[in-house]
Amino acid sequence: MRLRNLQLVNFRNYNNLHLEFNEKVNLLVGKNGQGKTNIVESIYMLSFGKSFRTNKDRELIKFDTENLYVGGNFSKHNTNGLIEVAIGKNKKGIKVNKIHIQKIQELLGNLNVVIFSPEDLRLVKEGPKERRAFIDKEISQIMPKYYNYLTSYNKILFQKNKLLKSNYIDEALLDVYDESLAQYGSYIYILRRDFIKKIANISIELHKKLTNNIEDLSITYKNQINVSDEDTVSTIYTRFLEKLVSSRKHDIETRTTRYGIHKDDLNIFINDLDVRLYGSQGQQRTASISLKLSEIELINKEVGEYPVLILDDVFSELDETRQRLLVSNLSVVQMFITTAEISHKNIFDKENTTIFNIDKGQVINIENGGN
Ligand SMILES: Nc1ncnc2c1ncn2[C@@H]1O[C@H](COP(=O)(O)OP(=O)(O)O)[C@@H](O)[C@H]1O
Ligand SMILES: [Mg+2]
Repeated sequence: MRLRNLQLVNFRNYNNLHLEFNEKVNLLVGKNGQGKTNIVESIYMLSFGKSFRTNKDRELIKFDTENLYVGGNFSKHNTNGLIEVAIGKNKKGIKVNKIHIQKIQELLGNLNVVIFSPEDLRLVKEGPKERRAFIDKEISQIMPKYYNYLTSYNKILFQKNKLLKSNYIDEALLDVYDESLAQYGSYIYILRRDFIKKIANISIELHKKLTNNIEDLSITYKNQINVSDEDTVSTIYTRFLEKLVSSRKHDIETRTTRYGIHKDDLNIFINDLDVRLYGSQGQQRTASISLKLSEIELINKEVGEYPVLILDDVFSELDETRQRLLVSNLSVVQMFITTAEISHKNIFDKENTTIFNIDKGQVINIENGGN
């Protein structure tokens, strides 16, 4: 998968920008605060329809202007596509191949993007919430209907918790909510279980590579219902509902929902020790890298093409050995790398690299590899 070009109008600190990208490595170089991340943020928008930095779309509109536009041509499976996002003060429109989409899942999966930022290096160290967000984003990309299930689940959970906090609790309504939670929860559970199994298989190999065969990384699904790998959606539904019913009294007392997929997490072990508790900072970071890189491989397996990879400010956080490992492992992937340090240039094969020098919301100079 390749993003061929990008057009920005009134996006963050850019007035009007058109860039043609290298199909291999694109280095976005500039001092802090110049607009490097803004560019990758707009690329991310083409994949997910929203920013990874804010939920408030209006923050993306250039100060003192009214409407923004982000557009990009991509190619995938030998076909071309165009994604366009337009945002005004109170309106937002997304088009795929000139046709307005109605729901975000019609956008997801068109252009697959994996972003790796400094927070991702803390993926293993952080709390369950961050790891759930990781899982959710990845599955949504591969299987947009997952996003549907999740949104529905979260809406019902919100309604249920609101009811639990109200003065009068209608238990018949709680029954309805619990049944819906069990239903969506079981769909989500199955997709998470499959995803985690796949990602675990890929990451064990990658992690060996990154650690010179010293470490065995094991990733498993941590959830509250303990069903087996073979269990079907109906068994899981029943199990969830039992849990919810058994916890009814507790839920009413604590005014919140104790059981469900909103509590899930990953168990991450290296050589049989829980990395979160016993791993060194370096081990936690390397495990995070393995996990993130597995995602790229998994998308390739599921979609049949590698996603576009964004490395936002992580490059300088890696030592040179890991930088080289990363680059050599990912030579088939189109990359967008932001960095303040021009010295990293040497890691990349010049032939396949385009360098965009960025200063105050302008691309002031483009160095094209090979000429
Ligand atoms: N809506 C906006 N309108 C104009 N400028 C903005 C807007 N949002 C952010 N900026 C500017 O963008 C710059 C930060 O860009 P960013 O891409 O995050 O920098 P970096 O190069 O460090 O990654 C800041 O100078 C900020 O003032
Ligand atoms: Mg930045």
